[in-house]
Amino acid sequence: GELHAASQAQPNIALIKYWGKRDAALNLPVVGSISITLESLWTRTDVRFVPGQKQDRITLNGRGEEAESRRITACLDLLRQRAGVDYGARVASRNNFPTAAGLASSASGFAALVHAGAQALGLALSLAEQSVLARRCSGSAARSIFGGYVEWAHGQLADGTDSVARPLLGADAWPLRVAVAITSTAAKQVGSTEGMRRTAQTSPYQSAWIDTQEADLSRAREAILARDFEALAQVSEYSCLKMHALALAAQPGLLYWNGATVECMHRVRALRQQGVPVFFTVDAGPQLKAVCLPSAIEQVKAALRDVPGVLDVLDSGLGEGARNIAA
Ligand code: DP6
Repeated sequence: GELHAASQAQPNIALIKYWGKRDAALNLPVVGSISITLESLWTRTDVRFVPGQKQDRITLNGRGEEAESRRITACLDLLRQRAGVDYGARVASRNNFPTAAGLASSASGFAALVHAGAQALGLALSLAEQSVLARRCSGSAARSIFGGYVEWAHGQLADGTDSVARPLLGADAWPLRVAVAITSTAAKQVGSTEGMRRTAQTSPYQSAWIDTQEADLSRAREAILARDFEALAQVSEYSCLKMHALALAAQPGLLYWNGATVECMHRVRALRQQGVPVFFTVDAGPQLKAVCLPSAIEQVKAALRDVPGVLDVLDSGLGEGARNIAA
């Protein structure tokens, strides 16, 4: 039959950050992390394995994919190994959000690729097994297999089979909203993989980062299960700023923020001081993500749009994990 399937996955945003690897080849993290999966931003990926085809053919948004093609072929190789086949694949992937905007397109991209590829090859993989495979392609992709609130464990085993994500709470059980302030569309200077490597080698704060993560994970887990917004706000901003402090202290220092990023942080904190339920988080790029209760979303978007240097503000609710779509 046809070795063909299509899947959708959405980006996730870490509230308790992943930064650093205990095994770079298997993509095993030094710390656990907790994220929320978004709803209205998505990657849709169509995968077709073609017997007799040697090379993989990959398009992203209808154009030949260059930048990520090696990582995509490595990910397809993991699936082919499982299935015991050597067929080349045709992969057509689309994002409905700007790829260069640093919005974790690798998380939704590799989650959708693993989900569709496993289905096309008839591999009966559990979501946990798909999370392990997605992790090997890009760490944060392990979390986008699942929806809502998700925790990815660092795991103990050398083979990484216990470094897997699991859902903590469904999206509908606590429907927070996320506003993303786009402050630059330039491709990021130092990617996460290289940034983590440099940090581990040169930042004097690496061991403090590892030693304090367990406490942050418990605080966040408890806040999520109790739907305690203020507690989640405090531990999430703390984890974000601590990750950046760690990376800023690498040599050369990793400075992912621009002026507008910092101004957005101040605006979000000012809003919270006025009683608006909102907090910020920032990843390895200049965009700011503001997480809020649904009642505050319009006020938060208006405040971010007002910041000089903010080019656009996207917004999303929380959504489901990777799933099949009509091929
Ligand atoms: C700052 O998952 O992109 O967004 O595993 O090397 O592919 P690789 O890195 P990636 O790193 C994401 C880092 C982060 C924090 C997070 O998402 O937890």
